[in-house]
Amino acid sequence: MAPAASGEHRRGASRSLRPRRGVLVLAVLTLLAATATVAGAQLSSEDYYDASCPAALLTIRSAVATAVLIDRRMGASLLRLHFHDCFGCDASVLLDDTASFTGEKGAGPNAGSLRGFDVIDNIKMLLELMCPQTVSCADILAVAARDSVAQLGGPSWTVPLGRRDATTASASLANSDLPGPTSNLNGLLNSFSNKGFTTTDMVALSGAHTVGRAQCRNCRARIYNDTDIDASFAASLRGSCPAQGGDGALEPLDESSPDDFDNTYFGNLVAWRGLLHSDQALFSGGGGGGGATDGLVRAYASSADRWGSDFAAAMVKMASISPLTGTNGEIRVNCRRVN
Ligand code: HEM
Ligand SMILES: *[C@@H]1O[C@H](CO)[C@@H](O)[C@H](O)[C@H]1NC(C)=O
Repeated sequence: MAPAASGEHRRGASRSLRPRRGVLVLAVLTLLAATATVAGAQLSSEDYYDASCPAALLTIRSAVATAVLIDRRMGASLLRLHFHDCFGCDASVLLDDTASFTGEKGAGPNAGSLRGFDVIDNIKMLLELMCPQTVSCADILAVAARDSVAQLGGPSWTVPLGRRDATTASASLANSDLPGPTSNLNGLLNSFSNKGFTTTDMVALSGAHTVGRAQCRNCRARIYNDTDIDASFAASLRGSCPAQGGDGALEPLDESSPDDFDNTYFGNLVAWRGLLHSDQALFSGGGGGGGATDGLVRAYASSADRWGSDFAAAMVKMASISPLTGTNGEIRVNCRRVN
């Protein structure tokens, strides 16, 4: 624990360096801090709020634990909220529409689908009481996603912190950048490589669909028309997802353990039991023009550990996509509105 000190945001950037030689070191530290502020692109270590808001991480973890205890699906929803923010990691996804911009909540992949805004609001309210305008909404999202995965039995990882919040949002970017459920393998690889991800990252991250639910409207075409689907799996899904109507009926993304963060998602793919067309696109058995990621899917299906560590590494990478740092952006008081 660092001693209480003025909660300057750039503090975390230099704290891991331990001054040993007085003036010279101080000068170097000052220079580093100044550089970090100017460059403004570097996240800091997880102890970023230790001095300025010592209970921040514990507060987020307890709030997530409570939310998941009340509604286990909320763990999945919070993870997805971070993903949909993070093709930018600046909490832009949380902003309500205003007169000057149309936000991301109404964008195709998000409308009537993203959940968890109230949980984030509650966490932010607590943190504003404890340490006003100190912890960013973007950092709350990143930590809540990590804690959700752990709470559902998955791996954990260290989250670099120090993101700041956007002062605007873009519905059109959300529409263009996020992959859709009818994507094929090349489409998926494209959306992810546009953000700097490798094929391994993309397949590992897709394993997030080991938890949560999708609406009938997003899997209908697959369960009625795809041929790369187990026949009895498709037949049973048709029971709850009619050909017409019932768009919002919920289907588990991982039928075998829908609320546990395990590697059964990958075993489902090998058994042709992926729920979304985009899920099954990761495993084609070498047919249908795909197949490039079949080996990885099999490897993850047989090693939860290998998938867990690849997933954790890819999450850290995802949480670092173009964050606002230094003097860019702001620390929002209310995650739904710019200050
Ligand atoms: C690979 C490309 C991806 C596509 C095409 C995709 C698409 C979707 C779709 C269509 C849904 C269902 C939404 C609904 O019906 O309301 C969904 C749910 C979900 N997605 Fe993805 N997704 C992808 C990658 C990811 C990644 C990388 C993550 C997180 C790291 C993620 C996490 C989730 C979670 C947890 C849910 C369930 C949410 C809930 O139950 O509230 N997805 N996804
Ligand atoms: C299945 O394919 C047929 C023929 O292309 C099409 O008319 C129908 O709308 C499709 N069904 C679904 C649920 O997408």
